[in-house]
Amino acid sequence: MLSVAVLISGTGSNLRALLEAAADPDYPARIVVVGADRDAEGLAHAEQFGIPSFTVPYAQFDSREAWGAELDAQLKVWRPDLVVLSGLMRLLPASLVTEWSPRIINTHPAYLPEFPGAHGVRDALAAGVAQTGASVILVDNGVDTGPILAQERIPVLPDDDEHALHERIKPVERRLLIDVVRRVATGELDLGAAAAAGHATSAS
Ligand code: GAR
Repeated sequence: MLSVAVLISGTGSNLRALLEAAADPDYPARIVVVGADRDAEGLAHAEQFGIPSFTVPYAQFDSREAWGAELDAQLKVWRPDLVVLSGLMRLLPASLVTEWSPRIINTHPAYLPEFPGAHGVRDALAAGVAQTGASVILVDNGVDTGPILAQERIPVLPDDDEHALHERIKPVERRLLIDVVRRVATGELDLGAAAAAGHATSAS
C-alpha cells in the first residue's frame, strides 16, 4: 500500500477526489497526512475523512528555506512514499525538492510546458488558445518544468471565463491524478525511471 502526503493551499477539491478514491479498499494508496502553507479551506476535507493534517504557515518564517525545512520535518514524521502537491501555490526550496525527488508530483491546470506558473488558466485565456489542458508532472527545481507523467487536452469554449474553464479542467486533473497515484502504487509507473528519462530529454 502506497502512503501519500498531500500538500494544499486552497479549497482542496482535487484533494477531496483523491481522499474519496483512497477510501475504496481496492485503491492501492492511502493518504496518511494533509499539509498546508496557510489556514487552507481544504484542510476540512482531511478532517471529514479522519486524516491528520498540519499547517506550516509560510508567513511565519524568515525565508523560503526555513519554511521548507519545517515542511520537510513535518512530512518526515509521516514517512510518506509519495508527496502530492495538489494546489500548493508556493515554490518549494531546492533542498526540499532534492530530498523528496523523485517521490514528489504536482498537478497543473494547463497542458505543460504551455502556461506554467500560478495562473495557468488565466494565461491560457489571455493567449486566446483554442485548447488548453491538465497535467500531472514530477516536481523538479523549475516552475512546472518536471517530466510529464500524464496530460490531457481540454477545449476552451467561447464563453469561458477563468472560473468556468478552471472548473472544467479540475475534473480532468482529478482523473489524471488518481490514475497516476494508482499507477505509482502498483509499480506500473516508475518515478525514478520517469525522472531519469526526463533529465535525458532535457539534456539532449
Ligand atoms: C488545481 O487546479 C491545481 O492544478 C492548481 O490549483 C488548483 C487547486 O484546486 N495548481 C496550480 O495552479 C499550481 N501551479 P483545488 O484546491 O480545488 O484542488
